[in-house]
Amino acid sequence: MPIAAKITGTGMYVPDRVVTNHDLAKLMDTSDEWIRQRSGIVERRYIGPGQQPADLALAASRRSLEAAGREPGEIDCIILATLSPQADFPGTSFFLQEELDAGEIPCFDLRAQCSGFVYALGAANAMIRSGQFRRMLVVGCEVHSTGIDLSDAGRDVAVLFGDGAGAVVLEAVDPEQDRSGILEVRLHAEGRFARKLWIEAPGSGFAPTRITHELLDERRHFPRMEGRFVFKHAVTRMPEVLLETLGAASTKIEEVDLFLFHQANLRINEYVAQQLAIPPEKCPSNIERYGNCSAASVPMLLDEAVRGGRLARGQLVAMTTFGSGFSWSSALVRY
Ligand SMILES: CC(C)(COP(=O)(O)OP(=O)(O)OC[C@H]1O[C@@H](n2cnc3c(N)ncnc32)[C@H](O)[C@@H]1OP(=O)(O)O)[C@@H](O)C(=O)NCCC(=O)NCCS
Repeated sequence: MPIAAKITGTGMYVPDRVVTNHDLAKLMDTSDEWIRQRSGIVERRYIGPGQQPADLALAASRRSLEAAGREPGEIDCIILATLSPQADFPGTSFFLQEELDAGEIPCFDLRAQCSGFVYALGAANAMIRSGQFRRMLVVGCEVHSTGIDLSDAGRDVAVLFGDGAGAVVLEAVDPEQDRSGILEVRLHAEGRFARKLWIEAPGSGFAPTRITHELLDERRHFPRMEGRFVFKHAVTRMPEVLLETLGAASTKIEEVDLFLFHQANLRINEYVAQQLAIPPEKCPSNIERYGNCSAASVPMLLDEAVRGGRLARGQLVAMTTFGSGFSWSSALVRY
């Protein structure tokens, strides 16, 4: 019997603490005007004292389970995409499994940075269609605020990122009974550009202690990025992979009801939409409020679209990402 993987519930969570561009301008040499003009970001959220990544993932997961009408005990497997794990090991997904009280189900973290959620969706889709699992929780979760350089030296990267989590419940359905499901997923990577946007330390190759005073003094434990290089590749790869995905599903741009682009930079997404003649009203964004939440951005945007009434059952939604790795991906889903 053929099986399709349907998104039956979505959820998101952001911490309460709002950090505006003006707040950042008190910490480093930047301005609200510079940040807005370059990226579209107005504010972002940072975790409060004692909050952990798994707490964010838990809140988003609970909301997605509630929307799907499922209990944690009904889930067969958890995949959590993140580039900011709670601990070196085990993965954040294990802490989430504990907090959810989901039973002894398998869980794993997936590391594909800003493309992590769509990569995870692709993996979950394959697992459900193969019959391995019937109900999966797919989560994107990031806490960037504790890992960015809030000084002048790190201002190019620090102003872009925020904390948040998004989740979906994915379930096996019979495509002859239910038209909803993941139609196509396309994933790509180019490791030769891994060092164009990365955090180098701590790293297991740094003997003898993975992190040294020298590495800290050189600020190599903070993210580094060649912004213009990233920008140039993003505006090329995103349209490319979106068209590839739509082509594989024999779907035209005009047939897609909603485009969810990774929220790295409003300018990138405006450029991509313009290139493909996609009307702005089909490209919602939340980067103004949350900044770039890496693997969490797409599922957060999806949840807002569902709850805000912008995405109805039966409509087509395309999700497209670009990020560190480099990694880029797209998924076409009939919601
Ligand atoms: C980061 C980004 C907004 C920078 O915009 P840009 O127009 O390329 O700016 P540049 O990096 O060329 O820097 C321009 C100037 O602003 C300065 N600048 C950098 N960050 C700044 C900040 N936060 N505030 C004020 N000035 C800043 C630079 O030092 C530079 O000054 P200079 O001209 O005196 O040397 C842009 O390159 C970008 O969005 N890249 C893609 C980033 C991305 O998507 N990353 C995540 C992918 S998942």
